Amino acid sequence: MSNQADLIVGLQWGDEGKGKIVDHMAQTHDYVCRFAGGHNAGHTIVVGEEKIALHLIPSGVLNPDAKNIVGNGVVLSPVDFIEEMSQFDDLEGRLFISDKAHLLLPYHAAIDQARERMKGDKAIGTTGKGIGPAYGDKVARVGHRVGELHHPRKLADKIMDYFSMNAPVFAAMGVETPDAQELYHELLEYREVLEPYITDTTLLVQKALEEGKRVLLEGAQGTMLDIDHGTYPYVTSSTTISAGACSGLGLSPKEIGRVTGIAKAYCTRVGNGPFPSEDHGEAGQRLRDRGHEYGTTTGRARRCGWFDAVAMRHAVRINGVDQVALMKLDVLDGFEEIKVCVGYEFEGREIDYVPYDLEEVQPVYRIFKGWKRSEGARNFEELPEAAREYIGALEEMIGCRIGIISTSPEREDTIVRR
Ligand code: IMP
Repeated sequence: MSNQADLIVGLQWGDEGKGKIVDHMAQTHDYVCRFAGGHNAGHTIVVGEEKIALHLIPSGVLNPDAKNIVGNGVVLSPVDFIEEMSQFDDLEGRLFISDKAHLLLPYHAAIDQARERMKGDKAIGTTGKGIGPAYGDKVARVGHRVGELHHPRKLADKIMDYFSMNAPVFAAMGVETPDAQELYHELLEYREVLEPYITDTTLLVQKALEEGKRVLLEGAQGTMLDIDHGTYPYVTSSTTISAGACSGLGLSPKEIGRVTGIAKAYCTRVGNGPFPSEDHGEAGQRLRDRGHEYGTTTGRARRCGWFDAVAMRHAVRINGVDQVALMKLDVLDGFEEIKVCVGYEFEGREIDYVPYDLEEVQPVYRIFKGWKRSEGARNFEELPEAAREYIGALEEMIGCRIGIISTSPEREDTIVRR
């Protein structure tokens, strides 16, 4: 009988700690698949003393028995991917790249950075990796796919044509036209390394499910950064929500099984854009320090604030979340009071949904009693009473069970509720 895939999705603005949960779940899955985003994502996984930062390679790479798929919904930078691959020496036969994934080439990063510069104080605060321009080219039907690496000469010619078509725009942006010969040699190099991994991953995932294999789908970024449902235009350029797993891998909605949504016990955001429950004061700084809230990909300090139950309820709903994994509960240890955003003030009234533009809302808070220590707890009963009350109240507000609670970066410090 055909299996359904398990799905992991970020419910906030990314950086929810998906890496730890994917790593945890990857131990019991045969396949781990990425379906969206690019090397803007960053998963840090702590295994004993070692910290491993993954950007594009699925976290299942740390389970020697798991196969890892980079789906068609991903934008793949060959240079960065090859560098990431070099951390491992046994990838053949357990890493597969969709021939339909789009290539993110160095000029995409140059365009991204030029656009950000031109936007000045309206900049999105992108990672500068070229994500928007790569997805933009895909949708405008002028992109190039990974499968084209099989024919580097033809691909080099197409890219040079693309540059001549766009010459005036690129000149204005200060984006240099590559040297045709150099470009060809770069593409040859990419082909040499990547060819053994390029395949039709749609067939691969479908076959895996048909054979009853356990498949895990790993989302990148978070719901509030989704191109349609996030805080547009301050979003990333992909479909980060559950639905993206279908188009980004070639699965039908019926093949999605249990959805685990990941959220921190508080909230963070990198880059610009609205963040109603942001705390600009001491509490925000304390969350940043205690939670080590600095980006894996860019090293930027993350903006910090309180759990936003309104945005979370919206995220639970549009992702079809079956259970929430609440991360970094221990970061709240020692606060006298903990705030939760339970509503927004919008155009003179209080609302309990996410409106078109979050820029204009003010948070309405409910205050919870803090607790001393949850760090390292491995059973729900071990948690201080106030922490258990906090979790119970969140479940009610977001309309979803919190089935997993993380109480430190260590793999073992995870409460799995029955
Ligand atoms: P881009 O994806 O580089 O275009 O950036 C668009 C927005 O998404 C910016 O606010 C980034 O900071 C944010 N972003 C992109 N990737 C991540 C991520 O993995 N974690 C958190 N924020 C991200």
